[in-house]
Amino acid sequence: PISRSFSNLAQNKPPSFGIAFDIDGVILRGESPIGGSPQALRRLYHDHDSGSLKIPYVFLTNGGGFPEGRRALELSGLLGVNILPSQVLQGHSPFRQLLERFENEFVVAVGKGDPVAVMVAYGFKNVLSIDEYASHFENIDPLAQFKHWTIKKDKQNSSPEQMSPRIDVCSERVQAAFVVSDPVDWSRDIQVLCDILRTGGLPGRELGHQPSLYFASDDLAYQAKFPSERLGMGAFRIALESVYNSIHPNPLEYTSFGKPKPFVFKNAEATLGQLALSSCGNCRGPGAQNVGGHLLKRLYMIGDNPSVDINGARQAGHPWFSILTRTGVFKGNRNHAEFPADLVVDTVEEAVDYILRKEG
Ligand code: G3P
Ligand code: MG
Repeated sequence: PISRSFSNLAQNKPPSFGIAFDIDGVILRGESPIGGSPQALRRLYHDHDSGSLKIPYVFLTNGGGFPEGRRALELSGLLGVNILPSQVLQGHSPFRQLLERFENEFVVAVGKGDPVAVMVAYGFKNVLSIDEYASHFENIDPLAQFKHWTIKKDKQNSSPEQMSPRIDVCSERVQAAFVVSDPVDWSRDIQVLCDILRTGGLPGRELGHQPSLYFASDDLAYQAKFPSERLGMGAFRIALESVYNSIHPNPLEYTSFGKPKPFVFKNAEATLGQLALSSCGNCRGPGAQNVGGHLLKRLYMIGDNPSVDINGARQAGHPWFSILTRTGVFKGNRNHAEFPADLVVDTVEEAVDYILRKEG
């Protein structure tokens, strides 16, 4: 749902373009804004204090780990603008579409942040984190005793929606594993996911079919705080797949979401269309209908990763226009050879300046 702060606006002309911002390496590095991102975003509002949007925009990230509502609040604090949950499209956001299939099934959620809260927010009823799942099996991780950094979670401190007393972990089969965000303890997670995938989560027993496995994205690398890029979920997928295929007769079956998949850009297009309509509450005439029908004339993708952001925008085709920044994974002087962007700039601020001048 789009907030009232947009629908209250009385604008005459619907916006004819929208913007999708990558987060890591474009807007933020770690938790720090980069490339003049707060100033750039402020230019997309009529009045920064009231938070009323002039230009429809979304964050289109392969990252995640927290529900969209919580991420929107965090981003609002970091960037100093009023960001709505509907503007936050994360790698795991399409997991919602799997609710019909797994709503009441026993599923395991993996990754940094609060992956169970993400799945619960989407409506999944029987979710356990891989941490909690593993805690039911003594010695499942033979290296645990050497992991001095492991913090034992006090179950009494867990939020009620995260306790799943209905699940009998030692006898119920796991129907699916969801890699929501970057796995924290690769050795334990590969070990335990292999158990789940080979046995349906009942180690020691045989299983005819592999439980479903979903990854929120497939980024080999991304830009974090460290100067060189860091290994992402795609690297974890390669590691898991390689180990699994070495110990199991049938190759690993899985589905990955996230950019550069075309449906992610289609979904962003639809969301931008809705935001455009909401940002001109009193729009009248055929222009407004077009916006409602998602016929924004131009959509900009501003990203730092050529094989993910630019590749995705190129595959999505018209009306997408790709802009590559030099604040993240891409650090070249010219354009990227394999996935050239429509425009290369230094920072997101420069990208927004270009867009606003062009759309004038
Ligand atoms: O873990 C985050 C990373 O894979 C990508 O984030 O915002 O650059 O798509 P982003
Ligand atoms: Mg990025």
